Amino acid sequence: MVHLMTQNKIIVLTGTNSQAIIEVGEFAEILHWGKPVKGEVASFCFSLQRPVPYGRLDNDVAMTLAPELGRGVFSSPCLEGHRNGADWAPVFVITEIESSTHTLTLTSEDTLAGLRMITELSLDKQDVMKTRHSLVNLKSTPYQVNRLANTLPLPARAAELMTYYGRWVHEFQTVRQPLQQGGYQQENRRGRTSHEHYPALVAGTRHFDEMQGDVYGFHFAWSGNHRLRVDVKADGRRYMQAEAIYLPGEISLQQGEELTTPWLYASYSDQGLNGMSHQFHSHVRESILDKQIINTARPIHLNTWEGIYFEHDPDYIMEMATQSAQMGVERFIIDDGWFKGRNGDKAALGDWFLDADKYPNGLTPIIDHVRELGMEFGLWFEPEMINKDSDLYRQHPDWLLAVEGYEQPTGRNQYVINLQNDDAFNYLYERLDHFLTQYHIDYIKWDMNREVVQPAHNGHAAGHQQVVRYYQLVDKIRAAHPKVDIESCAAGGGRIDFEVLKRTHRFWPSDNNDALERQTIQRGMSYFFPPEVMGSHIGSSHCHSTRRRHSIEFRGLTAIFGHMGIELDPVKELQDEKQGFERYIKLHKKLRPLLHTGRTWLIPSDDEAHQIHAVVATDQSEAVVMLAQLSMPTNSLSGHLRIPGLDRTAVYRVSILDKPSNYNEIVNYQPFWTEGDCKLSGEWCEDVGLTMPILDPESAILIKLEKL
Ligand code: GLA
Repeated sequence: MVHLMTQNKIIVLTGTNSQAIIEVGEFAEILHWGKPVKGEVASFCFSLQRPVPYGRLDNDVAMTLAPELGRGVFSSPCLEGHRNGADWAPVFVITEIESSTHTLTLTSEDTLAGLRMITELSLDKQDVMKTRHSLVNLKSTPYQVNRLANTLPLPARAAELMTYYGRWVHEFQTVRQPLQQGGYQQENRRGRTSHEHYPALVAGTRHFDEMQGDVYGFHFAWSGNHRLRVDVKADGRRYMQAEAIYLPGEISLQQGEELTTPWLYASYSDQGLNGMSHQFHSHVRESILDKQIINTARPIHLNTWEGIYFEHDPDYIMEMATQSAQMGVERFIIDDGWFKGRNGDKAALGDWFLDADKYPNGLTPIIDHVRELGMEFGLWFEPEMINKDSDLYRQHPDWLLAVEGYEQPTGRNQYVINLQNDDAFNYLYERLDHFLTQYHIDYIKWDMNREVVQPAHNGHAAGHQQVVRYYQLVDKIRAAHPKVDIESCAAGGGRIDFEVLKRTHRFWPSDNNDALERQTIQRGMSYFFPPEVMGSHIGSSHCHSTRRRHSIEFRGLTAIFGHMGIELDPVKELQDEKQGFERYIKLHKKLRPLLHTGRTWLIPSDDEAHQIHAVVATDQSEAVVMLAQLSMPTNSLSGHLRIPGLDRTAVYRVSILDKPSNYNEIVNYQPFWTEGDCKLSGEWCEDVGLTMPILDPESAILIKLEKL
C-alpha cells in the first residue's frame, strides 16, 4: 500500500542555519535535516517518497527516531528488552504530539507490550539538536532493558567520518575514515567518559574539512559506558545511533518506573568543521555553561602537582604562592598530597582529613596568605576513590564498588567507592561539605584516576547508576556551594563531556603539558568545546610526561589559547623562565576577553607541518592567530596564511604580538609584513593571505589583527 505522507503531520524545527523537517504519523521520521528551506515544505515532502524494490518487505520501511524490529527495521533497533521473555519486539504508536518552533515531544505507546516512550527532539537558535528517549513500564511485572538508543538520520552523501581515539597523556586524537557498508562502531566500557573513546564523532560529505563540506557533528553527553554507531543500511540509508551501555540485568523497570537516556547532541553545518564548532561553542556558552563563567574572567591558575607532587611543606607552599602572585597568578591550587597519610599514590584515598603531620597549623594560614596576596584558593579531591591502605577501607571494606568474591585489578593502586551505598555517598558529601564550609575555597579539582571494573551494588551490575550517583554528588555539592568552581579531571582528559560540563566549570584535558602534544590535544577538543573550559598550563621546560624540552615562547603561546595556568614550582625556576611566565600571563590577561568570547577558527594550512588556530571577536573588531610550527617545514616556503571570519570590507592592522627569540636569526630575512605597519582588508586576509614566516620546528608566533 502506498503510504500517503500528506495524511501525516509535518513538523518543522527551525534553527538559524539549519532546519529539521519531521513527518509524524504513527511514528516519526526526520525527512530533512540540513539547510533551511522555505515555501510549502509540507507539500514538498511528497518528493521524498521512496520507491519499494522487489525482494524485500512489500511496503516502505521508514527510518524513524526510534527504529523497531516490529516495523521491519533490520538495522540496530532503538530498544531491546523483555518481560521475562515476552514483550521483546514492541511497536510504538504515537499518541500525543507537542511542538513549538524549536521543540518536539512525542508520546508513543505499545499497549500490548505495556510500554510508553517519550521522545524529545529540539533544534535551538545555535543550530544544536538534542534528542533523548524516556521509557516507562506500564505493566505490573518488571521490564528488563538491554538497550535504549537515540537515533538520527544522515543523508546518503555523508560518506566520511572523523572519529576520536586516544589514551592517557594522548587524548582527543582524530582519525578520518570512509563511511561505507559495515559502518563504524565505538564502544566504551571503562566506566567513565574515557581517554580512549571521547563520545563524539563527525560525519560529512567526502573530503569535508575545517572550511568546507556538509558536516554532522554528534556528541553523546554521558560520563560512563557508551556505544556510538554510524551505520550504512543494506539499502544505503545512513544513521547515527548513540546509547549508554547497560550491563547485564542492570536496568529493570518496575511498574510506572522510567528510564531516560542521556542526551545526544548534534549539529549540522554546511560550513565544514569550523561552522559546526561555532554552533557547538555557542550552544555551550548559551545553554550549558554556568553563567558564572561567562560573566567573570577565568582566573589564571598555579597548580602545585608537577611542582612538588606529594612533598608538602606549608612554608614552602606559601613561598610558592608568594612567587605565583608576583608572576600574576590569580588562583593557587594545592593538588594531591594534602590529606592524612597521602605520601605517595599507594595509600590514603578516602581519608579526607587534613594531614596534621604535614600541616600542623592547619590550612587556614596558607589560605589566608593566598588571599592576602589577592589570589583565590583551590584544593584537589578524588572523592570516588579509595585505597585499601586507608582508614576508610579498614572501617568500611564493604564500600567498594565490586562483586563480592572476586579480586579486582587495581588502577593506580586504588579502587572505586560504591556511590549507591548511602552511607558512603553521605560520608563523601559530608567530607567535601566540611572543607568547603570550614575554609574559604573557591575551586576544587575533582579527579577520578582509575577505570571501573565489575561495578556492582548488592551483587548486581550497577555501572549506570554509579554515574547517576556521581552526578548527584556533584549536584548536591554545587547546590550547597554554588560559588565554588569545579574542574573535572580524570587522570587528565578521562571525563570530558557535556553532561559533566553542566555541573563543572573547567576540564583538565590531559596530564600531558608538552606544548607540542598539547597543540594536537587542544585542537581535537576545540571542535566541541570553547577555550574558556579547556585548562591549559605552562609546564616546566623539561616536560614530565614526554621528557621533551620546549622554549618558554612555545609553551606560553600554546597555554594562552585555553583557560591558562602554570604547573611547576616557581621557586625553583630560573629568572628567565619566571620572566617568561609573567609575560605570557600578562598576554593572556590582555587577550582573554577576546579568547573566551570570540569565535574559534581552526585554519587549514598549505603545509601540514603547521597548525593554525585563530579567535575572531564576535563583532569582528579584532582577532588573534597562533601559527604553530609542529615539525620541519615541508618546503623552504610554506605558502600563505589565509585568515577567515574577518569583516571583509574592513581594513585591519596586522602585527606580531609574540615570536620565538631566534626569529630573525634563522633566515636572511623574514616577510616584511611581520616587521610592522601592515594594513590589509579582511577580504585580502581571507582570500589572498600573507606569506608564512620561517619558523623552527616546535615554535610559534602570535599575530594580532585590529580593525581600523
Ligand atoms: C591526576 C591528575 C593530575 C594530578 C594527579 C594527582 O593524574 O590528572 O593533574 O591531579 O592526578 O594525583
